[in-house]
Amino acid sequence: MILLCSNGLTSQELLGEVKKLIGTGKKAALVVTADPEYKEKNYHVPRSVKELEFLGLTVELFDFDTDPAEKLLSYDVVELIGGNPYYLLHSIREHRGEEALRAVAEKGLLIGWSAGALVLEQTIALADRFLPELNFVGLRDLRGLGLTDLQILPHYSKQQKRDSGTEEKCRRYERENQCTVLRLDDGEGVVVGEAPREIRLRQKVTVAGVDFMNPLIAASGTFGFGREYNEFYPLSILGGISCKGTTIKERPGNPPPRVTETPAGMLNAVGLQNPGVEHFIEHDLPWLSHQGTKVIANVAGNAPEDYCQTVEKLNDTPVDMIELNISCPNVKQGGVQFGTTCEGVYGITNEVRKHCKKPLMVKLSPNVTDISEMAVAAESAGADAVSLINTLTGMRIDIHTRRPILHNNTGGLSGPAVLPVALRMVWQTARKVKIPIVGLGGISTWQDAVEMLLAGATALQIGTVLFTDPYAPLKIWEGLSRYMKENGIDSLSQLTGGVRPW
Ligand SMILES: Cc1cc2nc3c(=O)[nH]c(=O)nc-3n(C[C@H](O)[C@H](O)[C@H](O)COP(=O)(O)O)c2cc1C
Repeated sequence: MILLCSNGLTSQELLGEVKKLIGTGKKAALVVTADPEYKEKNYHVPRSVKELEFLGLTVELFDFDTDPAEKLLSYDVVELIGGNPYYLLHSIREHRGEEALRAVAEKGLLIGWSAGALVLEQTIALADRFLPELNFVGLRDLRGLGLTDLQILPHYSKQQKRDSGTEEKCRRYERENQCTVLRLDDGEGVVVGEAPREIRLRQKVTVAGVDFMNPLIAASGTFGFGREYNEFYPLSILGGISCKGTTIKERPGNPPPRVTETPAGMLNAVGLQNPGVEHFIEHDLPWLSHQGTKVIANVAGNAPEDYCQTVEKLNDTPVDMIELNISCPNVKQGGVQFGTTCEGVYGITNEVRKHCKKPLMVKLSPNVTDISEMAVAAESAGADAVSLINTLTGMRIDIHTRRPILHNNTGGLSGPAVLPVALRMVWQTARKVKIPIVGLGGISTWQDAVEMLLAGATALQIGTVLFTDPYAPLKIWEGLSRYMKENGIDSLSQLTGGVRPW
């Protein structure tokens, strides 16, 4: 069997497909053949290993430049990763790897993505249309291994955003070669067989021009920068990650105790502890931006200049979107001073907009009289989306010491307790603004997620539930998938705002 895909097993759909095809407990080889420079810094390798291990496979690395091709015959699954198609094809030929790969396709599962998919096809001529500069090995014979007649164009939407002529180039190629090219987006694939079976993303959503493979985004402050959760699953199972609130300079946060449980939720007053934007760009982002998920930088500050400087530093990085946090209730000056009046929201959004080259989402505070007015102010100042809600200010008191439990005296309430408030606020806001809403606050189950979409959200963030169940996003994804199937829903946009008020 052969599976061609765009950027690896980066979606729940593809992971589910491979699980169905091969079961668990098998042995896999990840073919990492790349030119010497790329070999050193290939961030895709650990991510792809993680994806295969998540499927219960034992994984070994394999390199045509150093390992004998016959060794491939001892694996049930072989995955060729992306990179330079010319170099990969050249190495396979030089080390006589064609036969071994053919045998794997016949008796096991051969997965190829991006360059790894192109080399399995009849020709890599399509890559030559788009990336001829990669041919530093001077390959003249562009014939591929010919294991399938299908031809795919990987990363289709991404490529189209980079180069608006992509579709035209692809059509010309089809005309000249009398063929059909399968345009695949990241997370999508095709199982090669008598009748090729396409695997498309059933839950994809677009917010402010950013395509998310599914609507589930980890909420800021509940997921750090992703490394700890990557121990549980590949981060690509999430549509995106909103990183911990980041400021221009490092912040130590508030003194402890900073968190406490409440009935059906928690109170926190972490106080925007973070390593600062430069540390984020240098140490976290290079890794995070290669995990096959969208990266949202959550930006906070004390003054408009802080926000503007921070977003400017992020402008030329791989961050996909900025989430402007003007709603942290746990620091005296952490943005909330801008987030509780319409003038404040308009002013800070307008100022940041001038400095921000990325899609801009403004995260709103629920600690106001009418949140929908704040959303209108953000929209008219140029926000591309709004996210709501941040935490609701709350307090608990130790009756023996008579001291507030949190050192900060008050904190932000989150978790299931706030879901009804969040739903009401999203619903009210959806009637007032045209820009998309990312809904959050207490979502813990797939049913909560459906409610939030019906209230008017285009995408969702999942926060506090992650502390009690890190696997909640997988369960929510599965539940949503079932709900869509049972109700004949093809796209989540059919649910957004679908509530029928009395
Ligand atoms: C411990 C903790 C830290 C948080 N830190 C941030 C933050 O840095 N920036 C931010 O915008 N929101 C932060 N939040 C708020 C969450 O992103 C989210 O808006 C809120 O918790 C409601 O969603 P939930 O009930 O699903 O957690 C934090 C929440 C918690 C519980």
